[in-house]
Amino acid sequence: GTGTGSAPQLLGFDAVPVSELDEVVVPSGYSTQVLAEWGRSISNPTILYDLPITGEQQGDAIGSHHDGMHFFPIEGTDPYEGSSEDGLLVMNHEYVEPRYMHASAIGQSLSRSAYPTYDDEGVVRRVADEVLAEMNAHGVTVVRVQKQLNGEWAVVADARNRRITALTPMEISGPVRGTDFVKTKYDPTGTMTRGTLNNCGHGVTPWNTYVAAEENWAGYFRTGAERPREQARYGVGTGAFSRYGWERADADPESNDEAYARFDVTPTGASALEDYRNEPNCFGWMVEIDPFDPDSTPVKRTALGRFAHEGVVFHPAVEGQPVVCYSGDDSGNQYIYKFVSGQSYFQATAGGHLLDNGTLYVAKFNDDGTGEWLPLVFGQGPLVAPLFNSQADVLVNTRLAADTVGATKMDRPEWGAVDPNTGEVYFTLTNNSGRTAENTDAANPRGPNRHGQIIRWREDGNNTSALSFTWDLFVLAGDTSEDAIVGGFDLNGDALTEDNIFSSPDGLWIDADSRLWIQTDMSESVVNTNPTYAMMGNNMMLAGNPFTGEIRRFFTGTLGQEITGVITTPDQTTMFINQQHPGATITAAEFASGDIAGLGNWPLGGNNYARSATVVITKDDGGVIGS
Ligand code: FEO
Ligand code: CA
Ligand code: CA
Ligand code: CA
Repeated sequence: GTGTGSAPQLLGFDAVPVSELDEVVVPSGYSTQVLAEWGRSISNPTILYDLPITGEQQGDAIGSHHDGMHFFPIEGTDPYEGSSEDGLLVMNHEYVEPRYMHASAIGQSLSRSAYPTYDDEGVVRRVADEVLAEMNAHGVTVVRVQKQLNGEWAVVADARNRRITALTPMEISGPVRGTDFVKTKYDPTGTMTRGTLNNCGHGVTPWNTYVAAEENWAGYFRTGAERPREQARYGVGTGAFSRYGWERADADPESNDEAYARFDVTPTGASALEDYRNEPNCFGWMVEIDPFDPDSTPVKRTALGRFAHEGVVFHPAVEGQPVVCYSGDDSGNQYIYKFVSGQSYFQATAGGHLLDNGTLYVAKFNDDGTGEWLPLVFGQGPLVAPLFNSQADVLVNTRLAADTVGATKMDRPEWGAVDPNTGEVYFTLTNNSGRTAENTDAANPRGPNRHGQIIRWREDGNNTSALSFTWDLFVLAGDTSEDAIVGGFDLNGDALTEDNIFSSPDGLWIDADSRLWIQTDMSESVVNTNPTYAMMGNNMMLAGNPFTGEIRRFFTGTLGQEITGVITTPDQTTMFINQQHPGATITAAEFASGDIAGLGNWPLGGNNYARSATVVITKDDGGVIGS
């Protein structure tokens, strides 16, 4: 242990080894349980729907590809205080694997990203109910979870259980609301849109609401027209099909109000009010959800910018001070942002309106260990006509604005975390195949960047709204080799060891005692097979000590998955994490053979399709997780 005096012991467990098992592994003295699997009914949680799953069933069931997650204590008003045995578990669902969802996929040689189609008189079509199931498997789940008398956790029926999907009506707020950018046939006033997509990480506001990030939304759209910059800069597709071909659904356009067809955003009408050319502008935002009000309308908070939002993390709020949060743009050579509210926080009146006006900044990391927050404000510096014509223009084109002010291009910013005890901010930079030896800098020091790093900073004067900061690298992820490109090094410059080698940090959280929880997402395309990554085994979670730099592996997951999402109950004796996309490494040929036993079947085992699910971790002596 590393504790001194009355300080809590931060890393009081023995490291677990790397693993290629199809089971979850925790340190001795800890136990696990599966909770909230993809396909569990939210209206009658004793039912786990079989796979394949219909559109209607999926609309009543926990979504797939679990990601960011929070435990809201029941009847709570503070997101980190209240019951440790009863609460609302709220989680994102990032994407879907169609081959596990549909009867028509059985026997086909489908890879994890492919989907079944059929020929309709020479036109490639998708079955509408299959598309509906995929839309309903996206979004966010709210379910009540309770600790039972036997000590196990269960999802229970509750009026607040809710699915938010790719079809749920949502309000657009902030500077982009009502502007021409977001006017569509669905809402010519530009104040409403439908659905949220590719929800990766999340955030929790000081006023006890949940915020879901929209990350890789751009690929869900395709266009046959020349792309305006607000599409091209984000990668809206130009191929024949969007990511899942939803626009090819054999649905009646009258009956579903073009909810499917809108994913082809080629202009077809006389103006934007008659088609869906602006639909992609309604995505790329942070979406605020009140989990305690099942009738509430989710709100897209445009003042936080439009990009591939990984998540958002808030400083603890201080009465009379601005609300401050950070968000990363997870794409190669993109940026880290900070939002400072225009109005001050007062607990009695705090709410989502605080996210509707304020200043969005982007980070510049200088090589000398200092840094600056550069404002993205229309009319300031280079953010003027003819390049930009309004603050809405700056926000819809946040990436271009950040390019223009000269922000530092980062190695794929993923999750952030704020240490509640020191105010230091940590961000994972997962890896970057696009970094070359010629364009490294002190914050992104390796090209190519195979394994990623964790950066941290402290705002000058410990003033959360400061415009400058100092930073360092907490760890360079990698192997034990001490190689300049692939070797891992801790805060003290010591090489990583068998107890803590890791790659591709993604999920991140700091608990109340300052334990830094680090989750990995090595791609399915390299995990366990590519020689650069093979020694890391399956994706994992580690714990770090921010004061000493020590890191120790705490958890290893099953075949094919990534570990993502982490929160404990307020008393820190129960931890919830997610296994996303177990079984994703199963090949198209293996899938078509129908015999996939042993290849990634968690949690049901046998020859079952794998399901994303939550893992509940407890310490057998009832103590604090990690202590
Ligand atoms: Fe969805 Fe950036 O991980
Ligand atoms: Ca992620
Ligand atoms: Ca991933
Ligand atoms: Ca990732």
